[in-house]
Amino acid sequence: MADFGANNLDAFWMPFTPNRRFKAHPRMLASAKDMHYRTPEGREILDATSGLWCVNAGHDQPRIREAIQKQAAEMDYAPCFNMGHPLAFAFASQLAQVTPEGLDRIFFTNSGSESVDTALKIALAYHRARGKGTKTRLIGRERGYHGVGFGGISVGGIPKNRMYFGSLLTGVDHLPHTHGVAGNLFSKGEPEHGAHLADELERIVALHDASNIAAVIVEPVAGSTGVLIPPKGYLQRLRAICDKHDILLIFDEVITGFGRLGTPFAADRFGVTPDLICMAKGLTNAAVPCGAVAASGKIYDAMMEGADAPIELFHGYTYSAHPLACAAGIATLETYKEDDLFARAAGMESYWQEAIHSLRDARHVIDIRNLGLIGGIELEARPGAPTARALEVFETAFDAGLLIRVTADIIALSPPLIIEKSHVDQVVETLRGVLARVD
Ligand SMILES: Cc1ncc(COP(=O)(O)O)c(C=O)c1O
Repeated sequence: MADFGANNLDAFWMPFTPNRRFKAHPRMLASAKDMHYRTPEGREILDATSGLWCVNAGHDQPRIREAIQKQAAEMDYAPCFNMGHPLAFAFASQLAQVTPEGLDRIFFTNSGSESVDTALKIALAYHRARGKGTKTRLIGRERGYHGVGFGGISVGGIPKNRMYFGSLLTGVDHLPHTHGVAGNLFSKGEPEHGAHLADELERIVALHDASNIAAVIVEPVAGSTGVLIPPKGYLQRLRAICDKHDILLIFDEVITGFGRLGTPFAADRFGVTPDLICMAKGLTNAAVPCGAVAASGKIYDAMMEGADAPIELFHGYTYSAHPLACAAGIATLETYKEDDLFARAAGMESYWQEAIHSLRDARHVIDIRNLGLIGGIELEARPGAPTARALEVFETAFDAGLLIRVTADIIALSPPLIIEKSHVDQVVETLRGVLARVD
């Protein structure tokens, strides 16, 4: 084998990581199966975050592994510009069976960030194709995470993801986030209060006029900023206001898609159908990078009829519908269906809810929230050192054999949908012990 030189930690500039802290005390993962990772030393780590909210069916699912292996041996790559391969069409057709009714036109990307930028661009192009080219403003939300492309950080609402990167997209407004409303602490499922926050959209419309607004993008449940569950009625109201003003509603379902809430998509759970859905992560069980945007027939037809010819949408990626991603995606959809994993997640929800909320009296805990197989546990920040406590909780949990995710001072949990009650108990007991040990 070729000698590529020393294997040290210097060369890899790690994403969203305190590089110097990690490289002083590395944590490595070497293999994975079902609910567990294994470290190079052979220590078992219970995965309470599905990797990064993405391995929804659990690790190393045989159907998916075998499909990738078979496809790699058959055709490694094929372009999709002016060209096709059967798996791309098969994957799109099968995915369109899972997406909410009417959202059956699939554009493939490689990640959640690309799905977001794709959806925003489709929204702009759609209005233009209908002769409404002044509808260009994009509305995001505070505490929203929509990936790291310039579109995504512009509509996103995380200060640190925005503040270092210049002027971003122009013509963007933000709705207020839905968190911290009085009376919502320790809510189980959807909180009671806060639907009125959707009315802020009317304020933005009054300011700019609907003739200038293209789309609103929200995560149905905001994950990356610490599990913010929408108040009862909020998403319904947002939908109604968008309809009233001919504004497209985009759901970023990169984490809520594929059974996370016990239904195929959050749109199904909340009974609210957006015009575009962004997805990635669970789409291929994360075995091959892949994302997609599902668009309504209304949008697709308007583009086919009204946009420039012959290419209707000047957008796409070298790896859109990559053969390995399509093979992995088809096998992933089969796995969800044949193992009935969405229903399984729904069946586990109440046990998960009660278990997570049993940590209410654990040290440092100031709020707990949950929906589907998502849990958020908010800790009191250490005075003068926000995020430090949660980071230590993360590191201590890892040493104790549990993978969690922390964001600011919030623990975010999103286990694979194959989780058993015994695993749930282990998550809660490990966390209780870790919280008692970390100051
Ligand atoms: C809601 C949401 N949108 C977009 C993204 C970005 O996805 P990716 O990291 O695949 O670009 C994420 C990632 O966590 C996400 O949670």
